[in-house]
Amino acid sequence: MARPAFYVTTPIYYVNAAPHLGHAYTSIAADVLARHHRQRGDDVFFLTGTDEHGEPVALAAAAEGVEPQALADQNAERFRALMPQLEASNDFFIRTSDEQHVAAVQEILERVKANGYVFEGTYEGWYCPRCADFKTAQEVAEGNTCPIHGIELTRENEQNWFFQLSAFQERLEELFDGQPDFVQPKTRYNEARSFLAGGLQDVSLSRRGIDWGIPVPWDPDQTIYVWWDALLNYYTALTYAEPGADLTERFWPANYQLIGKDILKFHAIYWPALLMAADLPVPRHLFVHGFLLMDGEKMSKSLGNVLDPFAVIERYGADALRFYLLRDVPFGSDGSVSAAAFEARYENELANEYGNLAARTIAMVHRYREGLVPAVPLDGELASDFEGLPEQVAALIDKAEVTQALETIWERVRRCNQYVEERAPWTLAKDEANSDQLDVVLASLCEALRSLTVLLVPWLPASAEKLLGALGASDDSFAAAAFGSGSLAAIEKIEPMFPKDPDEAS
Ligand code: MSP
Repeated sequence: MARPAFYVTTPIYYVNAAPHLGHAYTSIAADVLARHHRQRGDDVFFLTGTDEHGEPVALAAAAEGVEPQALADQNAERFRALMPQLEASNDFFIRTSDEQHVAAVQEILERVKANGYVFEGTYEGWYCPRCADFKTAQEVAEGNTCPIHGIELTRENEQNWFFQLSAFQERLEELFDGQPDFVQPKTRYNEARSFLAGGLQDVSLSRRGIDWGIPVPWDPDQTIYVWWDALLNYYTALTYAEPGADLTERFWPANYQLIGKDILKFHAIYWPALLMAADLPVPRHLFVHGFLLMDGEKMSKSLGNVLDPFAVIERYGADALRFYLLRDVPFGSDGSVSAAAFEARYENELANEYGNLAARTIAMVHRYREGLVPAVPLDGELASDFEGLPEQVAALIDKAEVTQALETIWERVRRCNQYVEERAPWTLAKDEANSDQLDVVLASLCEALRSLTVLLVPWLPASAEKLLGALGASDDSFAAAAFGSGSLAAIEKIEPMFPKDPDEAS
């Protein structure tokens, strides 16, 4: 049987500034989905990249007195370099200045025009240069400001090419009604659905006077409005990511497209309409996450309240950051981040719960059984606590519930620590008569630790690999996550996985 394909994307990041934690957040979440699906044996394609054209980048370059391409080159490299540091296992990194992307965008928009959805017109209305967004009346905040950036909107009156979005009113309604999990979570589905219910207006396809962009093929004096150029990356990347191959047949439509809540309209409304206009299938699911907040406000470069992901990784490692972000900011909601909350999660959960479970399990096997895992039947009570766990995790990941899935695993981490306290192996070890019982406890704990660690691979890839190595468990596939499926023999000691003070660790 052919392996199922799984295609996951992040938004492409604006190169107007360096990456911050908000960008890291989406990339980490997408990576969890990608790694989990690889464990299941799926054929996975994970895409991320940079959005390089349009006003947001042109304005930032002008402010720095450099050419847009130079700013794009510099910052695209930073985003590209962020991925391995986060341990994000993306299969490709697209830049919208790639010539293959440019050509593919032009070709697709020609098709949209040939299909009759492009016309000339005049846009009159409000516009946010930071969002690069033509705001509808409902989207304008008090005093004609942008509800996202708080800046004054500009009044635009521009003759350009239009995309006939209104032609897709009915088809989009059918999409939303027929596919209630097209947009998740439900609150965001409802938000997009009510935008749709408000009635769609046609929207600019091109811009006049913004040179930094892809020329409109039939009117090179104008550039393609940056959102169309950007959205198409999810499709164009597949046409050239693998030289000589067209991956669109294998991977399009995408299974999951992860986005932040600020770009919902573009992805839930504009994007499927554009695809329909180009005779292409629409993605299966969009998952919309919330904002990382600092001191109650969206963390963003323009607001100046950013946490530097590179600094956190340097001190604590990528796993700790991945764990913290996906655990503390429920995927799908807004959540505050702070150094204090990070340290609390690191110490209480990674070090004291998981790290300590691993450390004491390994230490006891060495102290009482010379590092050899007893070959005895496992404790039925612990087995029943693990029953169905991999399936529960997979079902949550299938809905992109990465925080819930982690919580489900973590409940068992806690259960194991409780099991240690209940069975008190140190007491059993005092009396030779309890030797068989001690064997069962130690073997069960090792197996539980192994099975949990296989499940934790997507969140904690480096730590999990280290621990599985020490346990002598080479199989980290999803099938190996079942409690009781392992056959551990000799295990090795390891350094603390999450040292209390990482600077003092060797
Ligand atoms: N370039 C567009 C996306 C085009 S996709 C076809 C863009 N870029 S962005 O760099 O501004 O934002 C990219 C993603 O990062 C968005 O999903 C956005 O929500 C996310 N984040 C940026 N700041 C964020 C937080 N403070 N918190 C969580 N994610 C946020 O929009």
